[in-house]
Amino acid sequence: MSASPLGIGVLGAGYWGPNLIRNVAACPEARLAAVCDARPEALEKQRAQYPDTRFYSRFEEMLADPGVEAVLVATPARAHAEHALAVLRSGRHAFVEKPLALSSAAAREIILEARRRRRILMVGHTFLHNPIVAKVRELVASGALGDLLYLYSQRLNLGQVRHDVDVLWNLAPHDISIAGDLLGARPLRVQATGLSYIRRAQRIADVAFFSLHYDHGVVAHGHVSWLDPLKVRRHVLVGSRKMLVYDDMNRDAPITIYDKSVEKDFRQPFHSFAEFTTRIRAGNIERLDVPLKEEPLAAEIRHFVQSARSGHPPRTDGPHGMEVVLILEALSRSMASDGGEVPLDYSAIPVP
Ligand SMILES: NC(=O)c1ccc[n+]([C@@H]2O[C@H](COP(=O)([O-])OP(=O)(O)OC[C@H]3O[C@@H](n4cnc5c(N)ncnc54)[C@H](O)[C@@H]3O)[C@@H](O)[C@H]2O)c1
Repeated sequence: MSASPLGIGVLGAGYWGPNLIRNVAACPEARLAAVCDARPEALEKQRAQYPDTRFYSRFEEMLADPGVEAVLVATPARAHAEHALAVLRSGRHAFVEKPLALSSAAAREIILEARRRRRILMVGHTFLHNPIVAKVRELVASGALGDLLYLYSQRLNLGQVRHDVDVLWNLAPHDISIAGDLLGARPLRVQATGLSYIRRAQRIADVAFFSLHYDHGVVAHGHVSWLDPLKVRRHVLVGSRKMLVYDDMNRDAPITIYDKSVEKDFRQPFHSFAEFTTRIRAGNIERLDVPLKEEPLAAEIRHFVQSARSGHPPRTDGPHGMEVVLILEALSRSMASDGGEVPLDYSAIPVP
């Protein structure tokens, strides 16, 4: 592995881009070579902090900079495909924020371009670089919860309302990638319903409820909204022996394990409430802290840099990003048919 830091350019310094910029600048294996944004005020906010970085208002100019070896794309979702392709065609490695593209056809084109150019393509599914999610995955895989029966997630807040995509494409990529990671599987079919209030005429959903159906009757249900009074980021996993809550808003103890279940003979008839309660097991409640040595974004960027240097595919690679896009497409189709079931077919994902 080369010792010289990887020269990184960041495209897009709006709401999210500055988080990437800050973490690239702090990464010992990377160098913040350039930042590009079409809005001068977005560049101004960054310029003073990074005197050794070059600032561009035109993307083509940043791509002509020989110090840029890789580009992080943090532009709105509708521009991801165009920008990812341009980065790869210029011979740079590409990190693209989620979702990889707004269609599976575009996602596939990006993957094939990366392969043709022998460049790394990574998608910003941040939570798969989060040690709390890794801990939950480890607990599920160890059988600590028994058989995982179902899970549900809530990702709610007031704002940020997007203009280019609906709430499903904006927020659900996180929960789809987390569910896939925890279950180690892909959904077989999906369902979704959406509600539009802010842009009702354009039928852009502000609230969406979705279900991902896996093998063995396991379901991951999700509720995403940018029109909610509460800021909630929560996953609840119900196992046959124990139940787990992962609350991303609780920084002290993000994981709580409830030693609760119903007894095996629950299906036998019971004749009183007292008898019913004897069939319910409610044991200890255990709270787990997962110390964060660094913010997950720092780990994500280091992983990208190491992939670019070693040539090893990253964990959240193009095929992973396309899988999420295929699921989002199927969910959108379901939403358009008021919640009809849509089967998934992953055969278009390029195999290595
Ligand atoms: N991983 C996460 O947790 C996470 C969180 C928030 C946002 N995101 C993703 O980050 C991306 C950006 O979101 P945002 O909220 O920062 O959007 P934003 O609209 O606030 O910022 C986008 C920036 O890109 C710039 N831009 C767009 N096209 C350009 C071009 N051709 N040349 C130069 N500059 C250009 C705009 O001027 C703007 O400043 C989205 O894809 C979003 O899904 C990811």
